[in-house]
Amino acid sequence: MSINVLVTGGAGYIGSHTCKYIKSKGLNPIVYDNFVYGHKKAVQWGPYIEGDLLDTELVQKTLKENNIQGVIHFAAYAYVGESVQNPIKYYENNVMGSLSLLKAMRETNVSKIVFSSTCATYGIPQKIPITEDMPQNPINPYGQTKLIVENILQDYGLAYGLKSVALRYFNAAGASPESEIGEDHTPETHAIPLALESAITGREFKVFGTDYPTPDGTCIRDYIHVDDLASAHYLAFKYLEESRQNFTAFNLGTGKGTSVKDILSAVHKVSGKDVNATFAPRRAGDPAQLVADSQKIQSVLGWKPIYTDIHKTIETAYKWEIKKRDYK
Ligand SMILES: NC(=O)c1ccc[n+]([C@@H]2O[C@H](COP(=O)([O-])OP(=O)(O)OC[C@H]3O[C@@H](n4cnc5c(N)ncnc54)[C@H](O)[C@@H]3O)[C@@H](O)[C@H]2O)c1
Repeated sequence: MSINVLVTGGAGYIGSHTCKYIKSKGLNPIVYDNFVYGHKKAVQWGPYIEGDLLDTELVQKTLKENNIQGVIHFAAYAYVGESVQNPIKYYENNVMGSLSLLKAMRETNVSKIVFSSTCATYGIPQKIPITEDMPQNPINPYGQTKLIVENILQDYGLAYGLKSVALRYFNAAGASPESEIGEDHTPETHAIPLALESAITGREFKVFGTDYPTPDGTCIRDYIHVDDLASAHYLAFKYLEESRQNFTAFNLGTGKGTSVKDILSAVHKVSGKDVNATFAPRRAGDPAQLVADSQKIQSVLGWKPIYTDIHKTIETAYKWEIKKRDYK
């Protein structure tokens, strides 16, 4: 019997790639999205229901009518800067939205959920690479909302037997190699699409901070290909079917650090064009380095990233950026 999975935020960047992947593995993704940021044309591997997470009744009806066996929960707001300016928007959507979903799940006896968490829950890490047992001290409301939901999931596990996996992604990057979907955020704040846009259009790309304690002075991040995130969601969902654990958290990164200057040279190598980079002071709240230790998910779930070379990841993102411009 095929398994129906509710994918909240499935019209968004990571959600749409995950729908494609889980469909190829025999699961049926059913997207639930309000399309505030998602795109209807990104929903290609199953039906969608247009609705808001905060509409508990509609979520409940959707779970029941579609015979949903489990949930992959991406829907959230994810702009760190905006979360500092407008925290209520984040607490309402990310925390109350998740509570609404969990309420609907309890009422319909859906007891499995994979949750999109983030390395932002760690705040400024004490050491690199970051392991799951390190302290979680978010330094912005966005990270707080994700940590709060992780804590709620643990409490629901103990009290109601909910089974959950929190996947703490580092920086999602790249696009489907077939270029039918890819990253399409408005506004875009992520370094790789912005650097590619700069190379393609000549628009300014600001490098924030050149005096960090890193080899070239710019910030280092761990860029994980979106298809590697997608495969991890599938494995996490399968794990929930067998595992006796109520709650498990896994980091998701490549374990390799890439600086902003590394991105500039990789974009040049891939596109043959220069990024129009300008240099600005550090932004408040940007840790010098965020690199994942993903040994836990590799050993427990057998997950392995396919994209370990940043050039390969940027190649898929470049192909998508070119295609996206033809679309519009
Ligand atoms: N992109 C990254 O690098 C990254 C890193 C760590 C964690 N995450 C998390 O992964 C998830 C997906 O990120 P993304 O980059 O694909 O974002 P995205 O904005 O592309 O996708 C989020 C989707 O959720 C939908 N949505 C938001 N609020 C909703 C609501 N109340 N009801 C229904 N739908 C709603 C949006 O319309 C959108 O389609 C988010 O939870 C984000 O916090 C992303």
